[in-house]
Amino acid sequence: MNLSQDILIIGGGIIGLSLAVELKLRGVSVTVISQNFQQAAARAAAGMLAPQAEQIPPSPMLDLCLKSRALYPAWIDKLEAITGLPAGYWPSGIIAPVCEGEVYEQPESFTLNYQWLDGDAIRQHQPGLGEKVIGGWWYPEDGQVDNRALFQALQTAAKELQIDVIQDSAIELIRQGNRVFGVETTAGKIKANRYVLATGAWSKQLLDIPVCPTKGQMLSVKVPEDSAVIQPLQTVLFGRGIYIVPRQDGRIIIGATSENVGFTGGNTPAGMQTLLAGAIKLYPELQNYPVLEFWWGFRPATLDELPILGASAWENLTLATGHYRNGILLAPVTAKLLADLMLEQKSDPLLADFHYSRFAGVLAI
Ligand code: GLY
Repeated sequence: MNLSQDILIIGGGIIGLSLAVELKLRGVSVTVISQNFQQAAARAAAGMLAPQAEQIPPSPMLDLCLKSRALYPAWIDKLEAITGLPAGYWPSGIIAPVCEGEVYEQPESFTLNYQWLDGDAIRQHQPGLGEKVIGGWWYPEDGQVDNRALFQALQTAAKELQIDVIQDSAIELIRQGNRVFGVETTAGKIKANRYVLATGAWSKQLLDIPVCPTKGQMLSVKVPEDSAVIQPLQTVLFGRGIYIVPRQDGRIIIGATSENVGFTGGNTPAGMQTLLAGAIKLYPELQNYPVLEFWWGFRPATLDELPILGASAWENLTLATGHYRNGILLAPVTAKLLADLMLEQKSDPLLADFHYSRFAGVLAI
């Protein structure tokens, strides 16, 4: 199949769809090829916008994450205006509780806005914390988005903007010389002028690129109907190896394990036990809440845990993958910077540190 479309994005996850919407809004014809949407990491995430709580050290990665966090409110407004759907953005701030016996070092990013809360102050901020919590860091500018609502809004925006979304699996990138010539899919060959690889944890299936899956198991509970308030948790709790993300409708997302087990799916008793024990320690009342769902997803991890953004070894192929723990957070900045690069040849200095060539020596590309 020959496309009149200019750009073919391979991957219909949060990164692929965010870039497709941005390109289309700038007047480019764009097609997305996507395998099963159910597999997207965007469905599996918790939606934290947490460069500070994730303790990303001062670095180009922190700058990229902060820029994206700052883009979020306007980006969400734009998507909600296109679709009429709420994307569930909640600048709730994040508390990183510290429990007895845990070391609490000062965050490395001194210049950012944060505060230490002692045992009394943290309980004033968020009543109901477990007795082992001795204090915590408060990051008022971190927040969260309901990643499933956001993903739904992006899929709807793609429809509203008449972006072609082809539901097929890409099998091979056909390359000739220094150009990509087409994509072999389960439904035949697709050609375009330019291509973007945004296939997340599955990127290695199409290109020799160091992206591997890191599995995360998660679960959710719901505040009981007879509770005095719809949602007693008014901020995200980001503990050691555990986070608790409240939604305004009463759901509470609990995540996540971090496992190098390839693409082995499924929830395990050990994974669930770790998450439940960690969550109940931080917020004991959870033990009485009805369980809603268990699930898992695959984070796209690179060797240095940083994304791969920008040019590739093929002059008409752009890379947008390897977002690891920060795909939801980095969606708006990835879309903006890559649209600037592809359409205006404007390479933001922030992109330099995320070029694929940093892996020279371990790659065949
Ligand atoms: N961003 C949180 C996680 O990947 O678990």
